Amino acid sequence: MPVPKNYSIVEFQEQYRKPVIALWQACGLTRAWNDPDKDIDRKLTDRNGGFFVMLFRDPATENDTVIGSVMAGYDGHRGAIYYLSISPEHQGSGCGRQLMSHCEAYLIDLGCPKINLFVRKDNEQASAFYEGLGYTLETSLAFGKRLIPDD
Ligand SMILES: CC(C)(COP(=O)(O)OP(=O)(O)OC[C@H]1O[C@@H](n2cnc3c(N)ncnc32)[C@H](O)[C@@H]1OP(=O)(O)O)[C@@H](O)C(=O)NCCC(=O)NCCS
Repeated sequence: MPVPKNYSIVEFQEQYRKPVIALWQACGLTRAWNDPDKDIDRKLTDRNGGFFVMLFRDPATENDTVIGSVMAGYDGHRGAIYYLSISPEHQGSGCGRQLMSHCEAYLIDLGCPKINLFVRKDNEQASAFYEGLGYTLETSLAFGKRLIPDD
C-alpha cells in the first residue's frame, strides 16, 4: 500500500528531535519515569533497529511537519515496536497503518520472524488499532526490571 500523497516516511534525524518529543506528549505517550530525550539517545545507539518519522508536506507552503513516529527493534529473536504515534489531527487517515507496514517490511528484511509489542492496559484505542492490523493478545506475562532510572 503506497504512502498517501503529501506524506513521507524518513529516518529520524536530529532536526526532528523536538517535534518528535512534542508529538509523543500530544499523543499521551510520555511518562515521568521515561525521559524522552534519553530514550531517543538510547535508540540512536541501536545498530539493529530503525527509528522512523512520518512527515506531512503542507501543499500550500511546502513545509514538512513531523506528524508520526515509531521505533522498531530486533534482538535476534523477536521484533519490537515502541512510541508509535500519529498526531491527533492526522489520526484516522491511515498513517498509523502505513508506519506499521513500514516497520513490518523493515523487520522482515532483517529476518525477524515475529513482533511483540506492549500496549498500556487502559489504551483501548491502540488495542483496537493493533487488532485491526492482525495482532493478537498474547497470554505470556510481561516482566520488567528498571536498570537505569530516568527520574
Ligand atoms: C494508535 C495510532 C498510532 C493509530 O494511528 P492512526 O493513524 O489513527 O490509525 P489508522 O488511521 O492508520 O487506522 C488503521 C486502522 O485501525 C483502525 N483504528 C484506528 N484507531 C482505532 C480506534 N480507536 N478504534 C478502532 N479502530 C481503530 C482504523 O479504523 C483503521 O482501520 P481501517 O483501515 O480498516 O479503516 C494513533 O491513534 C495514535 O497515535 N494514538 C496515540 C498514541 C498511542 O496510543 N500509540 C500506541 C502506543 S502502544
